[in-house]
Amino acid sequence: MNDIDPATLGEDIGLFEAIRTTRAIRRLKPDPVPDALIRKVCEAGTFAPSGGNRQPWKFIAVTDPERRQWVAERYRPIFLEYIQPAVELGEKDPNFPERKKKMQRAAIHLAEHLHEAPVHLFVAGWTRRGETQNQALMPAVMNILLACRAVGLGASLTTLHRSFGAECDAWLGLPKNCPTAALIPIGWPLGKYGTPPRKPVDEVLFFDRYDAGRDPEGHRGK
Ligand SMILES: Cc1cc2nc3c(=O)[nH]c(=O)nc-3n(C[C@H](O)[C@H](O)[C@H](O)COP(=O)(O)O)c2cc1C
Repeated sequence: MNDIDPATLGEDIGLFEAIRTTRAIRRLKPDPVPDALIRKVCEAGTFAPSGGNRQPWKFIAVTDPERRQWVAERYRPIFLEYIQPAVELGEKDPNFPERKKKMQRAAIHLAEHLHEAPVHLFVAGWTRRGETQNQALMPAVMNILLACRAVGLGASLTTLHRSFGAECDAWLGLPKNCPTAALIPIGWPLGKYGTPPRKPVDEVLFFDRYDAGRDPEGHRGK
C-alpha cells in the first residue's frame, strides 16, 4: 500500500457507480491506512451540507492500537448482547432470511475484530438546547462512506458506541456539548464491494401523491 497516491486515488469512479456499490464492509484487514487517505475521506465529509452551513463536525481518527482496544473492549460485549435475540430468532425460524443471517454474521465479526480495524473514525458534532443533533452529522458520514468506497477502503456506519457514549466522548477529550454520533471502522476490505440488497425504487417512489395501494408494505392510514 506504499505505492498509492492519495491525491489521485478514487478520483475516477463515477458518482452513481460509487453510490450503487457502497455497502457496509465489516470484514477488514488489520493493515494500516495512510493518514493522507484518512484526511482525504474526512475532507469529503467536510463538503456535506449542514444547517446554516454551521459545519458542526469534528472527526477523530483513533489509530493507536491500545486506544482501539479500549473501544473494542466496550463495543464487543454490548453488541453481542444486543444482537443475541435476533440470532436466536434466526436459529428458531426456518423462514428467517439468509440475507439477514449474513448481515448478523458480518456485524458479529466486526464486533469481535473491532480492535483490528486500523481506523476507528468518530464523528462528533454539537447539541442544541441540550439535545444531540445526530441528523446534522449524517450527510458528512455518508460522504465519508462514499469517499471510502471511491478510494477502495471498507467502512460501515455504527452507532452502538453511544451505549457507552458519555464515557467514550470524555475519553476522546470532547467537551460535553460535542458528543460523538457515529463510529466508522475503516480499513482495507477483506471482501468485495457489490450492490447491496435494496428495495426497487418503483416500490418507494410516488409522484405527486402517496399511493398506499401501490405500496407493498401497505402503510394505509398510518
Ligand atoms: C443510523 C444507523 C446506525 C447503524 N448502527 C450500526 C451499528 O451500530 N453496528 C453495525 O454493525 N451497523 C450499523 N449500521 C449499519 C446498518 O446495519 C447497515 O447500513 C445496513 O445493514 C445495510 O447494510 P448494507 O449497506 O451492507 O446492505 C447502522 C446504520 C445506520 C443508518
